[in-house]
Amino acid sequence: MVHATTPLTMIPCINWLQPLLALISSTLLTRGHNCPSSCMCPDHHTVNCTGQGLTRVPDAIPLNVRRLLLSNNWIPWIPSDFLVLYSDLVYLDLRNNCLSQLEPGTLSTSSRLVFLDLGSNNLTEISSGIFEDSTSLIKLRLGNNPFLSMIDKDAFSGLTSLRELELEGNGLTGLDVSVLKPLLYLKVLRLEGNPWLCDCHFAKLFAWMKENEDKLPMGKLLKEWCSLPLDGQRVPLSLLSEDSFRECRSTLSLTDYLIVIFSGISVSVAAIIASFCLASIVPCFQRLKRGFKGDEEEGID
Ligand SMILES: *[C@@H]1O[C@H](CO)[C@@H](O)[C@H](O)[C@H]1NC(C)=O
Ligand SMILES: *[C@@H]1O[C@H](CO)[C@@H](O)[C@H](O)[C@H]1NC(C)=O
Repeated sequence: MVHATTPLTMIPCINWLQPLLALISSTLLTRGHNCPSSCMCPDHHTVNCTGQGLTRVPDAIPLNVRRLLLSNNWIPWIPSDFLVLYSDLVYLDLRNNCLSQLEPGTLSTSSRLVFLDLGSNNLTEISSGIFEDSTSLIKLRLGNNPFLSMIDKDAFSGLTSLRELELEGNGLTGLDVSVLKPLLYLKVLRLEGNPWLCDCHFAKLFAWMKENEDKLPMGKLLKEWCSLPLDGQRVPLSLLSEDSFRECRSTLSLTDYLIVIFSGISVSVAAIIASFCLASIVPCFQRLKRGFKGDEEEGID
């Protein structure tokens, strides 16, 4: 038996050697530009697995990867320790997969990450603290997740360098503007194409949009809609002003207010039409009157 002849003192040494050997071999493999099968590695720091029909994240990614491109695959899930070894990662593209959630801690070792694309997936919720350690992140794409309707209170805490945030084409009916507070350097926020509900919760977001129109992509706000809570009727945001939400401080609902606005408009239109009619009728009357007078005069004669 091998164990019987091995001196006891060798055992701790072997235990210690194994991870070292693993480290050396992985370093050698990295040196040799080891590339996961079905991916391309055009340079030392890029692993490109775009559109390879992958149904899970690939193994054997070089440890010194900086750009990891995994877009246009069928990846439904990222193990929460997947990124632990890739602490040099700067650019991670997971666009157009079928991710339904991001587990807490997945990004906790990716503090160098500058670009993260999770757009066109099936995320439903952005949970609190998920980006807590993403302090270098500059661009975060979360758009076109049609079921994404929940953004938790502290979802964006930690994103102190973020310049661009994309939330367009999601399922958001509202957004608590306080989640944007940690984003001190935000320059661009895409919000278009969400099924906003124009209730009193929306008032704050609307005020934020008005105040930060320079951060929204040009002209996009004016083409946006929100739906009335009661009948779902869509109202263009361009028709609303902060005054439209005035009743949120009193007892009237927004619907009531809009009815007032629209009935105001209808009354004005009716008044204009009426005055036009009047203007065309009055000369007829005058002529008629003159005709009568003529008859009377003839009668007198
Ligand atoms: C990645 O690969 C795809 C096709 O496989 C190619 O279209 C794309 O340009 C590549 N991107 C980079 C940055 O190499
Ligand atoms: C996306 O998520 C929704 C709601 O959670 C689910 O009904 C749907 O089947 C999912 N679609 C895919 C492609 O995973």
